[in-house]
Amino acid sequence: MKIKFLDLGMQPIANNFLLPSEIKDEFKFHLTVTFDTNTKLVSLGEFVPPARMFNDTYTYHSSGSNTMTNHFRDTAKILKTKFNPETVLEIGSNDGVFIKNFDSNSVVAVEPCGNFANITNALGYKTLEEFWTLPVAKQIVKENGSRDLIYAANCMCHIQNLSEAFSAIETCLSDNGVFVFEDPSLLQMLDRGSYDQIYDEHAHVFSITALKHLLANNGLQVFNVEKLSVHGGSNRVYACKTGTRDIDASVRNSLSEEDAVGIYNVDTYHNFAKRVEQSKHQLLCLLLELKRRNFKIISYGATSKSTTVFNYCGIDDSLIDYIIDTTPSKQGKLSPGMHIPVVCREGNLSRVDYAFLGAWNYEEEICNKENDFLKTGRFITHVPYVRLI
Ligand code: TYD
Repeated sequence: MKIKFLDLGMQPIANNFLLPSEIKDEFKFHLTVTFDTNTKLVSLGEFVPPARMFNDTYTYHSSGSNTMTNHFRDTAKILKTKFNPETVLEIGSNDGVFIKNFDSNSVVAVEPCGNFANITNALGYKTLEEFWTLPVAKQIVKENGSRDLIYAANCMCHIQNLSEAFSAIETCLSDNGVFVFEDPSLLQMLDRGSYDQIYDEHAHVFSITALKHLLANNGLQVFNVEKLSVHGGSNRVYACKTGTRDIDASVRNSLSEEDAVGIYNVDTYHNFAKRVEQSKHQLLCLLLELKRRNFKIISYGATSKSTTVFNYCGIDDSLIDYIIDTTPSKQGKLSPGMHIPVVCREGNLSRVDYAFLGAWNYEEEICNKENDFLKTGRFITHVPYVRLI
């Protein structure tokens, strides 16, 4: 049975930064979150058609921060050392930040956003401009052979039909191959109150408990789990064909930890929803009070996460003057739903009193480089509770 535990109201496509002329046709959907008492999977109540989110105008660049560029370089190094794969597949290769660390002859990539598939094809990495499906997996096996390493970062949680997606992995994986994927962790979201992990693209927020069953139903087995700090707390899951590898203690530890936090218990999710409501109330009180005192407030990082926060809390340009972001394709546009202008960072952080940290997951990187701002200004975040930095 699916239990709806959170309602974040009507929301736009989180990455759909728009021109003023596009406002009148803006698509919105009802963003709710459910817990499935059978599978333990946390998912959106309503899925958005994938082509509305992942298309030729997709704006999110994986290499848009040093943190993530370094992360993917280090990950490639670790996976090469551990598994020495001869053949590699990346699902959701974005701008190639991960596959660039491999020899192009060994790699096939799958990426539905044409703008990114063009970039990696031009670099010599064979990239199929497709969503990840069983027919695509069969095509790769036929044309290029099975894969020793299949990697997907912040991608499996985007896929609505997980059964087909995992079955396609099993089809494409070589007998001793490894499937490594990383996505935001449900446990971390519950712990940090980071409800802004929930938006159209994140069809599911994974626990190891739910993944273990989903993978097992498709001939795969989790054999290792690593906790990562990226994207506000993620899990890197290592899976293989059932029975082909020893199971590391980290799997049992993760399952026990999730059990202890109450991942099986519906009350855990209802309590999270109460915390989300309190967070909204506290953030609005803080912003209204700062505005009443005539402080200048902006937002730092035009993230998908901040789309959820601003639309759920009703924060528009009467509270936040503008959003600064380094991504050229977001600059000069309006934020989804609340239509706050997005501008470049240069020249737009002086004379600012407070900046809401839309990219709170890069707090360290941003605080390090914004020393000057922090001499007089403060960051505002809502994670794990509303506070000033
Ligand atoms: P991210 O938090 O990775 O994304 P999302 O919630 O969309 O998954 O997005 C980071 C955004 O913040 C991206 O648009 C780039 C921007 N950014 C800056 O503008 N300056 C910075 O210093 C950093 C680290 C990110």
